[in-house]
Amino acid sequence: MTHWWRDAAIYQIYPRSFQDTSGDGIGDLAGVRHRLGYLRDLGVGAIWLSPIFKSPMADFGYDIADYRAIDPLFGDMDEFQRLLDDTHRHGLKLLLDFVPNHTSDEHPWFVESRSSRDNPKRDWYIWHDPAPDGGPPNNWRSNFGGSAWTWDEATGQYFYHAFLEKQPDLNWRNPQVREAMYDVLRFWLDKGVDGFRIDVIWHLAKDTRFRDNPPNPAWEPDQPEIQRFQQRYSADQPYVHEIIAELREVVDRYVDRLLIGEIYLPLDRLVTYYGESNKGLHLPFNFQLIQAPWRTEVIRELIEEYETALPEGGWPNWVLSNHDKPRIAARVGEAQARVAAMLLLTLRGTPTLYYGDELGIADVHVPHGRIKDPWAKNEPDASFNRDRARTPMQWSAEAFGGFSEIEPWLPLTDDYRTRNVDRQRGDDSSMLALHRALLALRTRFPDLREGNYCSIDAGPAVLAYRRGERIAVALNLSAESASLDLPHEFRQGEVLLRASSGESGGGIPSRLGGDEGLIILAPPSGAEGRTRS
Ligand code: GLC
Repeated sequence: MTHWWRDAAIYQIYPRSFQDTSGDGIGDLAGVRHRLGYLRDLGVGAIWLSPIFKSPMADFGYDIADYRAIDPLFGDMDEFQRLLDDTHRHGLKLLLDFVPNHTSDEHPWFVESRSSRDNPKRDWYIWHDPAPDGGPPNNWRSNFGGSAWTWDEATGQYFYHAFLEKQPDLNWRNPQVREAMYDVLRFWLDKGVDGFRIDVIWHLAKDTRFRDNPPNPAWEPDQPEIQRFQQRYSADQPYVHEIIAELREVVDRYVDRLLIGEIYLPLDRLVTYYGESNKGLHLPFNFQLIQAPWRTEVIRELIEEYETALPEGGWPNWVLSNHDKPRIAARVGEAQARVAAMLLLTLRGTPTLYYGDELGIADVHVPHGRIKDPWAKNEPDASFNRDRARTPMQWSAEAFGGFSEIEPWLPLTDDYRTRNVDRQRGDDSSMLALHRALLALRTRFPDLREGNYCSIDAGPAVLAYRRGERIAVALNLSAESASLDLPHEFRQGEVLLRASSGESGGGIPSRLGGDEGLIILAPPSGAEGRTRS
């Protein structure tokens, strides 16, 4: 059976920042619905919405107070149903963000759990007695800085939170918790959603003995506190795979639904999340392109290592940016971001695009007084202020970029009057046009979707690979031109797309310009002789 998610490009929307229709400076579901035509025309196949559920918004929706309700900021259940139906009418799939590791401290489960030691929901969260000295039970740190344990005066125990104090971790070893969460999945699957991106899934199981994490000898004081220790006991425990197998059983009762998991782990650990016989996650998110230094030899090697490490039948996937990391154009610059888009959309596997990257939105300066990210507030010197990657989508040159009618919750880029959808839609050489052309080529050539990946040695400075029988991709990851030495059949080929200009046609050069990328189609086999004669 072919699965839709092998062919589809996924587009991540941060709902607060996509389109405001209610006039409060914050995006909403009606706004997403309004822009479905744009997404269809762009050529993506699925939308993943960051959390839209009822939440006090301490971590902008990653702190959920009711898994079955839409936060009024974004709309209501009727609006959600309209969005889901319209998404399907546009031929697109809709993925929700499932946040199982923790709830909000305002979730009724936690309110009950902290009400007394003998409350039936006490064991739904992770409560622990103090260490003999009265301090926290162990040395585990919060991902946002400080101890991961908060003292509860009323009941005389600590509770564990891998993130904010307002995000207590659920106890997934408790069967009632698991059942309650599987019910949540069924609730949305029954409505017809096409799958889930699962938040911090490698965190779900913790060491039963709560042993101290070992120190990380490479840690420097200017780095986030979480890196001070190796996360040996606080995450990635074998039991997580049992949970994932159960999650998978829940979705496998429905036709062709998708589970993607957010996992920041080294490659050898990451690929275990496909599960035994691929009965784990369909797509453990592969963040290597986000994390690696942008150098030809590094990227070439990581692609090859990934291809080799994948389990038999495990489908690859690639990501360049998301709502937690610097945008790709901020990392590699505007010209190179075009090459990066060509890489993302020509590698073997499902690509995930981050909203606004198709316009080349780069870093946005967020003045001190406007910082919203709770992590940046906790660790101002060591964190990446995630607001910089979460600013409003830029639709037009109008005030506030056509995103909202009042000042949005985060600033737009300084260049939004020229960097916006309206402007780029009419320009064949724009970043937006390049994305459309790349996505259209994926539709047109099965080789780009299903063809094998095979590295080509086209010269030391060029990242080149073959996809399937007839497609080659050659990318220059630097600003210096480089010699390009392709196999014979591709030298006779035709340029399907140039990263720098978005143009096609023309012969194959013997040098590849700086920040240039080419997608090349070889003549059909047997046709070369004819071309030459
Ligand atoms: C994930 C989310 C991030 C959030 C964290 C806690 O890493 O992507 O935005 O802050 O989990 O839920």
